[in-house]
Amino acid sequence: MFEFAHLKIGVLGTGMVGSEIASKLVQLGHDVRMGSRTADNQKAAEWVKANGAKASQGTFADAAAFGEIVFNCTAGSASIEALKLVEAHNLNGKLVIDIANPLDFSGGMPPTLTVCNTDSLGEQIQRTFPGAKVVKTLNTVNCKVMVNPSLVPGEHDIFMSGNDAAAKTQVRGILKDWFGWKSVIDLGDIRTARLVEMYVPFWAQLFMQNQNPNFNIKIVK
Ligand SMILES: NC(=O)c1ccc[n+]([C@@H]2O[C@H](COP(=O)([O-])OP(=O)(O)OC[C@H]3O[C@@H](n4cnc5c(N)ncnc54)[C@H](OP(=O)(O)O)[C@@H]3O)[C@@H](O)[C@H]2O)c1
Repeated sequence: MFEFAHLKIGVLGTGMVGSEIASKLVQLGHDVRMGSRTADNQKAAEWVKANGAKASQGTFADAAAFGEIVFNCTAGSASIEALKLVEAHNLNGKLVIDIANPLDFSGGMPPTLTVCNTDSLGEQIQRTFPGAKVVKTLNTVNCKVMVNPSLVPGEHDIFMSGNDAAAKTQVRGILKDWFGWKSVIDLGDIRTARLVEMYVPFWAQLFMQNQNPNFNIKIVK
């Protein structure tokens, strides 16, 4: 269903995640605008230069207004601050795919979480933008694995959390048809974003020990 649809997509974030996601979307034929706090962000300019006519850049607000779908790839500890630069009407009714993790590295590795246990960044974003259809996904794997799951050998799982059933159906299609995921597990409503966000310090510890980011969870029954 999604394979041949060419959409306008906003990617909020100029880091490695924003760059990986945005580049993959351009390769799939979509028109992608990368957003930043500043319209002339240098990393976004380099990304545009490398990705041709379907790539553009702007502020977070520009990218959100441009996108029929919006990816949140901002630093999780600052995502609410970043998203508040976007007027709510530019997210109303839109699928917002939240990949961010609310990590605090100030105490070293592994990081702690700026929100957890009884709340999550995914829930905070949904509460801040009640008109948006927020789906949390992909935050449990390295950014190269997000768009190329075959970097991890064998079968393994990706999770999604969100309140809107139709939005999750759309995300399942994006994960499978666009990014190549074979197993997508629907954890439930947006409150389950807590669970996948709280996994990430564990992921970070495993990464420190392995020094290899290409690993993932497989639920064995
Ligand atoms: N790295 C991975 O493989 C991986 C895997 C899973 C999830 N994640 C999550 O994905 C997100 C992006 O990670 P990343 O490493 O690509 O980038 P990052 O360095 O965590 O975030 C970069 C983006 O955050 C924005 N930002 C930073 N501080 C801000 C502030 N105070 N106010 C507003 N915006 C601010 C930056 O804006 P400017 O463009 O204006 O500088 C930039 O666009 C994070 O939440 C991370 O936890 C990462």
